[in-house]
Amino acid sequence: MLIRNAYIENQTQLSDIQITDGKFAAIGPGLTPQPGEQVLDLGGKLVLPPFIESHVHLDTCLTAGEPVWNQSGTLFEGIACWSQRKEQLSREDVRRRVLQAVRMQAAHGIQYVRTHVDVTDPKLTALEAMLELREELKDVMTLQIVAFPQEGILSYPGGQELLEQAVKLGADAVGAIPHYEFTREYSVESLNYAMALAEKYDKLVDVHCDEIDDEASRGLETLAARAYEMGLKDRVTASHTTAMHSYNNAYVLRLMRLLQLSEINFVSNPLVNTHLQGRADTYPKRRGVTRVKELLQAGINVSFGHDDIFDPWYPMGTGSLRDVVFLGLHVCQMMGYEDIQNAYRLISVNAARTLHLGESYGIRVGNPASFLVLDGKDYYQVLNENAPVLYSYREGRLLAQSLPGSRQVFF
Ligand code: FE2
Repeated sequence: MLIRNAYIENQTQLSDIQITDGKFAAIGPGLTPQPGEQVLDLGGKLVLPPFIESHVHLDTCLTAGEPVWNQSGTLFEGIACWSQRKEQLSREDVRRRVLQAVRMQAAHGIQYVRTHVDVTDPKLTALEAMLELREELKDVMTLQIVAFPQEGILSYPGGQELLEQAVKLGADAVGAIPHYEFTREYSVESLNYAMALAEKYDKLVDVHCDEIDDEASRGLETLAARAYEMGLKDRVTASHTTAMHSYNNAYVLRLMRLLQLSEINFVSNPLVNTHLQGRADTYPKRRGVTRVKELLQAGINVSFGHDDIFDPWYPMGTGSLRDVVFLGLHVCQMMGYEDIQNAYRLISVNAARTLHLGESYGIRVGNPASFLVLDGKDYYQVLNENAPVLYSYREGRLLAQSLPGSRQVFF
């Protein structure tokens, strides 16, 4: 197949893309079609690498209001609601909801998902269903599974054993939730335990780290120090880090050096954290999103995630990362021209580093022909106009397409 007249990422010159046997065979201007080759003329549309959801909870998705709604909108009432819903979990229930959510994500150009799966469940029902789905869906969606101890590692009965069992069953990454542990000592010990487990089983790490407005929540420094000292470095990700929003600037100045040394990744979830954080504030109310702009300026890798899709923690969401980027740029005050043009990187190339997708991700000759066509000439236009992903191709195969709706104005 020959794709003509594409703007690839931020390039301002039009390129053609030739795809042979599911791989990018040639990229450049004025390519000649082979006899009988299918030609798709984009007429100046944007082509991007596939979107990556770097932080979501697929096991809880599409359960808002079951059995009760989170009325306060706090993280902690969300955990309490989920604790009730968890009792009704079955393999079929998880499968049905995850398959629906994955199709929603695919429609918005997502081809890779890092999902956290709650393993504070003695039956590990959701984990087992997710492991099955990872295998079943691997040709259309890459699922990376984080064993996530929602109710704590040391503060939940058998939490340590369940986490290790989840890793042995095949989770890709080890999680932790230091701000939810009973004490500061448990918080530190839980991180030490999670990191040691990752080292022992050669897994990635992704911690729900300081997802609280408490400026004294300092799980991040422990995580970064261990990542540095153990040499796990960019295999480690700190998700949420909303307490960093509230840290004093003198502390952050000191912390930044450690974060740079550690080379850990960050995932921010602006949709969900603007909703969940600041709930104990009167006015002014904190935005509650980590210091994305400052982290990026310090050369630290940051991506954006949706986090929750219509579940006890967030009663909305279509799975589209466009909404995440749109709100994230506002709340992080990243509205400069270059910030907006480059924002697609927060849900593609930066997330690829976090997921350790390696060199096979990206629009380069020899790589699998996985890419998106968006209905605009650049990301600024696509983001501002909420333009759809027209086509999502994976290894040369069309996975999803959208037909732009028509609107008419009669004046
Ligand atoms: Fe999360």
